Amino acid sequence: MVLIGKLNLNRKSLIVALTGAGVSAESGVPIFRGRGSMWENETARNLAGKSGPPWNTRGTWEFYEWRRELVSRCEPNAAHLTLVEMEDFFYNFYLITQNVDGLHHRAGSRKVLELHGNMWKGRCPRDGEIVDLPKTPLETIPPIHSCGEALRPHVVQFGEPLEQKTLEAALDLSRRAELFLVIGTSGVVSPARDLPLLARKSGAVVIEVNREPTVLTPYVTLSIRGMAAEILPKLWEDLKKTIN
Ligand code: OAD
Repeated sequence: MVLIGKLNLNRKSLIVALTGAGVSAESGVPIFRGRGSMWENETARNLAGKSGPPWNTRGTWEFYEWRRELVSRCEPNAAHLTLVEMEDFFYNFYLITQNVDGLHHRAGSRKVLELHGNMWKGRCPRDGEIVDLPKTPLETIPPIHSCGEALRPHVVQFGEPLEQKTLEAALDLSRRAELFLVIGTSGVVSPARDLPLLARKSGAVVIEVNREPTVLTPYVTLSIRGMAAEILPKLWEDLKKTIN
């Protein structure tokens, strides 16, 4: 890859990776749109139909418990693990994820901004406290906070704003990145989709890894077609050769 040969990275370079559902697809976690999506599963469709505001209901948690149980049987794949290797190598490597499955943490990633929250956490609608809910099945559905209020999943729902502090940190990283990887996202959900565009506009080399072209493809520096768990380890091998 000619472009990669031209990159001028060193261990202090600021590298940012944005991931979407596609990075977990080869672990067995269904994506949200298109072939292999969660909505191909009738149980998921039925459960999602009973989930809704105010989000601390039994219906919502039954849907999330179905997803949590599914993810509990999945393991991080080679794409997740490559991102950990990159974080170990670069002093300034940051991961921004739209995924709520927690697989980046399970793989060993540490500097992770979870734009859409995490399904292994609950949040109290009354006082905003965030609590870990690492075990499935839950003891009670809905789970109850120590204050007596039913918790909601600590996950951004459609139409809800992202946590301001997390979004600002993601925007700042995107503006300053030298290399920005965008992996396994359809790029249709804002504001996540704006990050690679901002990075490109700010001068980063943006490399997309996706099994198919996306709405972001025309705007990136290089788009590599394929499965993240296959492509990412190879891309990392190629990148490593260019580092001073
Ligand atoms: P999508 O389901 O919209 O897109 C998944 C992308 O991954 C698609 O572009 C696929 O082509 C690609 N893909 C699938 N398998 C792949 C593989 N093995 N290797 C590489 N690419 C692969 O998921 P997201 O873009 O993450 O929001 O969706 C964004 C947000 O929409 C999600 O975070 C979720 C959803 O509503 C919340 O939960 C708040």
